[in-house]
Amino acid sequence: RKLADCHNIADFRELARHRLPAPVFHYIDGAADDEMTRQRNTDAFADVDLVPDVLAGSKVDTSVTVLGRESALPLMLSPTALQRLFHWQGERAVAAAAAEAGLWFGVSSLSSVSIAEIGANYAGPKMLQYYYHKDRGLNAALLDMAKDARFDAVTLTVDTIVSGNRERCKRTGFTSPPRLTPSSALSYAGHPGWTWNYLTKEKFSLPNLEAHVAAGSNFALSVQDYFNSMLEPELDWAKAERLRLDWGGTFCLKGIMSAADARRAADIGADAIMVSNHGGRQLDGSRAPFDQLDEIMQAVGDRIEVILDGGIRRGSHVLKALSLGAKAASGGRLYLYALAAGGEPGVRRAIALLGEEITRAMQLMGKHSVAELSRDNLRFR
Ligand code: FNR
Repeated sequence: RKLADCHNIADFRELARHRLPAPVFHYIDGAADDEMTRQRNTDAFADVDLVPDVLAGSKVDTSVTVLGRESALPLMLSPTALQRLFHWQGERAVAAAAAEAGLWFGVSSLSSVSIAEIGANYAGPKMLQYYYHKDRGLNAALLDMAKDARFDAVTLTVDTIVSGNRERCKRTGFTSPPRLTPSSALSYAGHPGWTWNYLTKEKFSLPNLEAHVAAGSNFALSVQDYFNSMLEPELDWAKAERLRLDWGGTFCLKGIMSAADARRAADIGADAIMVSNHGGRQLDGSRAPFDQLDEIMQAVGDRIEVILDGGIRRGSHVLKALSLGAKAASGGRLYLYALAAGGEPGVRRAIALLGEEITRAMQLMGKHSVAELSRDNLRFR
């Protein structure tokens, strides 16, 4: 299978599974416990049907303004860690493809290309995804990096005060950077293309953290150990509000799931929330973001922007989220599978396919702009 044979996100996933050593693929694909929430995040869209209007013409404008910047599609690339492990081009590929397509790119605190480099080289709208660490020096440094690199927004992730139980990662022994174990060695040997790139391209590191993490870039931790040893378990609303003030720019909270918390986010002055359960990687059994969207919109829809994050695999999923009032939809795996499958051309192709799906679905819905999408075009089963 080649990139040209990938016609949807599921196809990219198959190609990624083929190209990646098992520990790396399962880090991307896996989630917490029984992975019920991961599955539900996508299945939720099937409980709602679209009702089209016809004979309305086919001219479509898919652009939206979200977090104060225009986006060519109502689609954002959610922040994800460690991208140079998925393909040697890593964040450089994703940032370039996002900038070219005019989409928001979420840069993880745990990015494998520095915030400074991404800020200097890619003109598109960028947010820094902020992990609130125990180390106050590191927290201050991350904020300074986002300011120096002129990022457009900071997004505080609020669903990771402890790590979710990612059993696939335990089974494969996935760490960052990858560590050879007897079982993983076989998998690396079976993927010589990936392994060659890993060994011969720029050495893997997490440059934003380097100065603050003991042993520099040579630490090898599971993501679970990283969260549990490095992140602030007592993160609270006061700290979130303080961070917003220290940043002073567009501020978003990622990982809000209840209407009450959405109100609190508005109360502390957040400009936006990402309704998200971290792609099912944290609390298994958590409801799907799409299932919570309606009540959250009713609670804060007139006060702050709401972004639906997680489970998006089709353009029609995006339309359903927008019809309930979300400003945009955001996803991680939808572009990570494509990155792993084929680097920058892969990510470009995934964005193009989703763009076509969104455009075609809007045409078939009889909608000329995103603003015309409304609840009137949805029915709950
Ligand atoms: C993530 N996600 C994530 N979120 C975050 O705030 N900081 C991070 O560093 C990461 N890293 C990360 C790595 C990988 C491999 C995945 C799959 C996800 C969560 C991400 O931002 C987003 O919430 C989910 O990916 C949404 O679910 P979908 O779109 O993958 O179904």
